[in-house]
Amino acid sequence: QASLKERAAAKGLIFGAAADKHILLNTLFANTFTKDCGMLVAENDLKWRTIRSNPHTFDFSKGDWLVKFARTHGMLFRGTPLVWELGLPKWFKKKVNHKNAERFLVEHITKVAKHYAGVVHSWDVVNEAIAVSRSKRSDGLSRSPWLEFLGEDYIELAFRTAAKADPKAMLVYNDRWLDYDTPVGNAQRAAVLKLLERLKSNKTPIHALGIQAHLKARETRFNAEKMRGFLKDVASLGLKILITELDVQDEGLPADVMESDRIVAAAYEDYLSVVLDEKAVIAVLTWGLSDRYTWLSRNSRRPLLYDSYFQRKLAWNAMARAF
Ligand code: XIL
Repeated sequence: QASLKERAAAKGLIFGAAADKHILLNTLFANTFTKDCGMLVAENDLKWRTIRSNPHTFDFSKGDWLVKFARTHGMLFRGTPLVWELGLPKWFKKKVNHKNAERFLVEHITKVAKHYAGVVHSWDVVNEAIAVSRSKRSDGLSRSPWLEFLGEDYIELAFRTAAKADPKAMLVYNDRWLDYDTPVGNAQRAAVLKLLERLKSNKTPIHALGIQAHLKARETRFNAEKMRGFLKDVASLGLKILITELDVQDEGLPADVMESDRIVAAAYEDYLSVVLDEKAVIAVLTWGLSDRYTWLSRNSRRPLLYDSYFQRKLAWNAMARAF
């Protein structure tokens, strides 16, 4: 059977998944990973908390290990995120304020993007800037320290700084809650579209939208037409689209594993059959590959393509059929 990366490549697409160094040290997992993935996404190893244990030094050792692993196995490499309100080290709150925030932001992006220039396919330059359900602003911008200290222009500044540091990387704005026909989903899509329009009209160097796609198998309010319309609007701005963090929460599904696996697989297939119709979509990346290692493990048992023993599930077949 052809691997997922081969099937994807035959359609001009990239298939990949997120992982960190500590799980790739499991050779059984690593073998599964390298067989199917054409791209490795650093799940946590490039976050501020990992590389900046103190304000003065940068520790690239885990990220460098991932780069080497990707190169050894002929995989592309992708970094996330340069700017986010979460994943920050403990010292951040004490050290960063409105006087020095710009210096921290520019220094961080410059150092990190330069370090990985030439080896990184794409960067989530800004992650989750919009949170319509928690924002009091009409533009839906999330109350992050960056917004508080620098105002809304922090987003543009981040992209311009990243482009200077690595002129070749694909620069991505990545966000969540974009998938469902719910009040939050609709408002989030509208706010993200507005932001992308603003960035494009300012000639901000942005190349793609990342759609996280943390799906819920129980959520039925997926509206294919609305999703197609949104993808088309994004594409018409001249942007590419990446599905960046796909997984399917199986919380609340029937206890029977066969049955819940079927529902999860159907959720993958329904979603992909819509988004892969859009030509601007260039990559499908899952947030993990095996149920053994998933950020959802507390409330979700089997959200990914492989089970905890690295056996393919129905979701793997659904992914294979989608390409
Ligand atoms: C998650 C990781 O998967 C976890 O291991 C970590 O504890 C928290 O962050 N949206 C994102 C990702 O953009 O960076 C998050 O990753 C999941 C939600």
